[in-house]
Amino acid sequence: MYSRSLECCLALGLLQLPHLFLAIGIQGGSEYSEFVISGGNVSLQISDLPKNYKSLTWFYTTDQKIVEWESGELKYFDTKFKGRTRLDLQTGALHIQNVQKEDKSTYRLKVDADTSSEKNWVITLMVLDPVPKPVITIRKTEEMNNSCYLILSCVIQDQDVTYTWYEESGPFPKELQNSKLEITLVPQNYSRFYTCQVSNPVSSQNDTVYFASFCHPALSSGIAWTAPWLVIMVATVLGLLWT
Ligand SMILES: *[C@@H]1O[C@H](CO)[C@@H](O)[C@H](O)[C@H]1NC(C)=O
Ligand SMILES: *[C@@H]1O[C@H](CO)[C@@H](O)[C@H](O)[C@H]1NC(C)=O
Ligand SMILES: *[C@@H]1O[C@H](CO)[C@@H](O)[C@H](O)[C@H]1NC(C)=O
Ligand SMILES: *[C@@H]1O[C@H](CO)[C@@H](O)[C@H](O)[C@H]1NC(C)=O
Repeated sequence: MYSRSLECCLALGLLQLPHLFLAIGIQGGSEYSEFVISGGNVSLQISDLPKNYKSLTWFYTTDQKIVEWESGELKYFDTKFKGRTRLDLQTGALHIQNVQKEDKSTYRLKVDADTSSEKNWVITLMVLDPVPKPVITIRKTEEMNNSCYLILSCVIQDQDVTYTWYEESGPFPKELQNSKLEITLVPQNYSRFYTCQVSNPVSSQNDTVYFASFCHPALSSGIAWTAPWLVIMVATVLGLLWT
């Protein structure tokens, strides 16, 4: 379920939407997946809550009750959710605060109405960490015959991310989007920088490498530049102290 929904959403390019609804019809209700960032807040919302319902119960996993409303009484059960959840009796929505990784589960709302039989809504909650910042490494720059063969790789720990490479004029075509960017350039289409953006449905980060001239990367690392200065400064300060 997880990977299928994720693939589906990535393919649709629906990244970075805070609330992602994938409506799939199920018997007497609906089913969808929702992504939330760990530590964030989420609202599990449903549509078409019957008016004048008799009882309303939110479950997680298969049959563990979180909260129940029946005959005018509202009861929050003794679960890990206690104190973090709030039921909205108007809409049937369940608000969860400070969502934890372990809250990843299937949630179900069961409603008994006067007029119809029992109605169920199922929501799969996916809790994702924000993606870490990627680092671009230049694997290869090879200049020959006035063309430049370039391999850049975008390194990140997390596997479940999509990669988008950008050059000055915008993103590269889809077929080149991978953790590794392998391109051949001529002076007419080289870019002064290349950016790798990594994303999951709840966050995105990027890194950029710069080129000083055709096929020649700029010395972009701040550390590489500051280190010699630090050495000189420390040496100078020490020298002054000794005199
Ligand atoms: C979650 O909701 C609570 C209460 O409304 C609020 O104090 C907190 O800042 C929210 N957290 C985030 C990450 O939005
Ligand atoms: C570079 O160009 C020369 C002459 O135009 C040609 O002989 C040679 O094969 C080319 N090298 C490559 C790697 O394309
Ligand atoms: C740049 O132009 C050359 C020659 O037209 C082409 O072979 C190459 O694929 C182009 N590279 C990119 C990244 O568009
Ligand atoms: C890269 O990240 C910065 C913030 O860190 C953001 O302002 C910028 O729009 C991002 N660029 C791309 C291409 O994602």
